[in-house]
Amino acid sequence: MRSWRSSGDQGGPAGRRRGPALVTGGQPGAGQRPEIRRLTQDDDLAPVLDLARRSFGPFGAEAAAARLADTRESVADGRHLGAFDGGRLIAAAKYFDMVQWWHGRRLPMAGVAGVTVAPEARGQGAGRALMTALAGQIAARGYPLSALYPATAAVYRAVGYELAGAQYQASVPARSLRSLLPPDVAAAGRPDSRAGLRRAGPADAAEISAVIGRVHEAARDCGPADFDLGTSARMLDDEHLFCYLAADGFLAYRWQGGNSEVLVYCATAGSAATARALWSVVASHSSMAGTVRAFCGPADPVSWLTREPDVSLARHEPWMLRGRPRRRGRPGSGRGARRRVHRDGVHARLLLSRRQGDTPVHLAAPGPGGR
Ligand SMILES: CC(C)(COP(=O)(O)OP(=O)(O)OC[C@H]1O[C@@H](n2cnc3c(N)ncnc32)[C@H](O)[C@@H]1OP(=O)(O)O)[C@@H](O)C(=O)NCCC(=O)NCCS
Repeated sequence: MRSWRSSGDQGGPAGRRRGPALVTGGQPGAGQRPEIRRLTQDDDLAPVLDLARRSFGPFGAEAAAARLADTRESVADGRHLGAFDGGRLIAAAKYFDMVQWWHGRRLPMAGVAGVTVAPEARGQGAGRALMTALAGQIAARGYPLSALYPATAAVYRAVGYELAGAQYQASVPARSLRSLLPPDVAAAGRPDSRAGLRRAGPADAAEISAVIGRVHEAARDCGPADFDLGTSARMLDDEHLFCYLAADGFLAYRWQGGNSEVLVYCATAGSAATARALWSVVASHSSMAGTVRAFCGPADPVSWLTREPDVSLARHEPWMLRGRPRRRGRPGSGRGARRRVHRDGVHARLLLSRRQGDTPVHLAAPGPGGR
């Protein structure tokens, strides 16, 4: 899971408290009791990449280097747990230090990612024990929210995560974007159709984060998420990702399938003029690309820009959310504790959905990741 996103929050909500070096895992099944602890800079990180390859499929040298950089960062920051059986790494999981907007309010959020158990160790409780330990650490560090994209739900439900929203993807024939509908009378009058767009890169991570934050705050958005600045800068440092920044908007996209498609990760705009300017850049690729796909919210204005109703929107990937349990205990340390944490997770979901009303919850872009 890659994204360009950033946030102005360099530290976790409770700072960089480390706590004990050894994290006690829950009670795994089938008599297996892996030792669960934070990975340290003294650990060999090659087995972490090996677990990822065996769990998520092949990735090339470039992706391996990006994963290793992310892993070094999460290990250095105490955000990466490993489960060891006789000194051998059999499972790992981490979280990104992220933020998520709820009704325009920016909240610290731990984005769980890289949950991997070695194939030969699966189905014996290691995944649940690891997630129990990780959720405990996230709560101990003070994050009010944690989110992830689940490949499977049971292991996350068991520790209090519940489905709360989805990432959506719009798909539109590129030729439909070629002549965007002209601005209506009310929106006209802004002469600069480019809205002051400029190319952006890793050095702009902080400004991009600030611009995106202002847009989500003004729109009172629910669900979009953003990474910390270091992660963002690494993601922006990609020659295949093309980014443009305006005073109230940000665009990030890449080619996909050779040059047959354009994949838009983010086209966030705070005004009609900027939305038009961002989509004009995307539309300029219609001579090459057949299809434009874009991660966006269900209420994204892109469908208003085409003459014909050519924009189709699909629920791309659901995500799960866990609120911080109100009662502190040792999550997962016993049957009662598990029930309590789970109930509190569901409570958080109900509370959020009541507050949301009819507001569609979405992640405007790849955010928290289970992978
Ligand atoms: C998914 C994964 C992390 C689960 O780890 P695990 O050690 O096998 O899980 P556990 O033995 O602790 O089982 C925990 C629960 O998840 C369920 N579960 C485990 N693997 C499952 C699967 N592939 N499909 C559906 N449910 C599954 C178990 O039945 C159990 O449910 P229960 O408590 O209701 O009995 C592991 O199988 C894995 O690494 N898979 C490949 C990578 C992946 O998909 N990672 C998750 C990315 S979001």
